[in-house]
Amino acid sequence: MTAATPPPTPDSPGPPDSPASPGPPAPPDAATLLRTTGAVREFTGRPVTRAEVARILDLARFAPSGGNQQPWHVVTVEAPAVRAALGECIVAAAKEYVTLRAAGQRPFGLTAHGRWPGPGPVDLAAARAADLDAPAFTGLAHAPAVLAVLVELGKLAAMDAELDRHGVVAGASIYPFCWQILLAARLEGLGGVLTTFAVRHEPTALAALGAPPGWALAAVVALGEPVHRPTRLRREPVTAFATVDGFAGPALSP
Ligand SMILES: Cc1cc2nc3c(=O)[nH]c(=O)nc-3n(C[C@H](O)[C@H](O)[C@H](O)COP(=O)(O)O)c2cc1C
Repeated sequence: MTAATPPPTPDSPGPPDSPASPGPPAPPDAATLLRTTGAVREFTGRPVTRAEVARILDLARFAPSGGNQQPWHVVTVEAPAVRAALGECIVAAAKEYVTLRAAGQRPFGLTAHGRWPGPGPVDLAAARAADLDAPAFTGLAHAPAVLAVLVELGKLAAMDAELDRHGVVAGASIYPFCWQILLAARLEGLGGVLTTFAVRHEPTALAALGAPPGWALAAVVALGEPVHRPTRLRREPVTAFATVDGFAGPALSP
């Protein structure tokens, strides 16, 4: 009998990223799945089939949602015209994002007492009219599979609706589902990334998707066979963000 490989620790996160080997990799154990499902933005040319997407969604549907409302609808976007419309929404927002960052801002950050202070002196219309050379954004709508995740607003409970800050709670009923898509994709030997950029131009995106009133766009998820499989994700250790008995309490350590 061979000794079991010890699970990776934050200090020994695993081997370096490696080029994807041919064929689907063996499914990771649960801890490895959670530690190593990183963003994948570069895909091989292998198509993703509807059967694969259906299997992924068949796992993702077990995600939690407030009141078990399961407020999601997924459009798997195949038509070039719909992909192009979504791609334009993503790229327009990416131009805004890149321009705001270049101006020294935290783009769309809730930096003014929990609200976005707006673009300040940055001209977002001019930003959208400029060219963008950023394949990480421009390529997303060309991924082997593109899933638009819609959420039915009437099924969300915004428990923070009356607080004097931008809401965060309503998204809690849809983003676990999105993450579950990415985890399930990993089990299919695929990788992917979630973008919320298209939401900046939601009316255009919803019209392209034919969404009925009362629905919002939560995310676009790009999926495909990874060119590289991430294994070393940069994340802070538990002691950097967990404390005991209060925010300023002692760091949580075993
Ligand atoms: C809410 C949200 C929005 C994101 N938006 C984008 C995006 O627009 N474009 C992109 O390439 N990655 C996007 N990502 C992926 C993050 O950049 C990624 O999770 C983070 O940088 C960690 O990268 P890693 O998993 O490779 O370590 C998003 C992730 C989340 C959770």
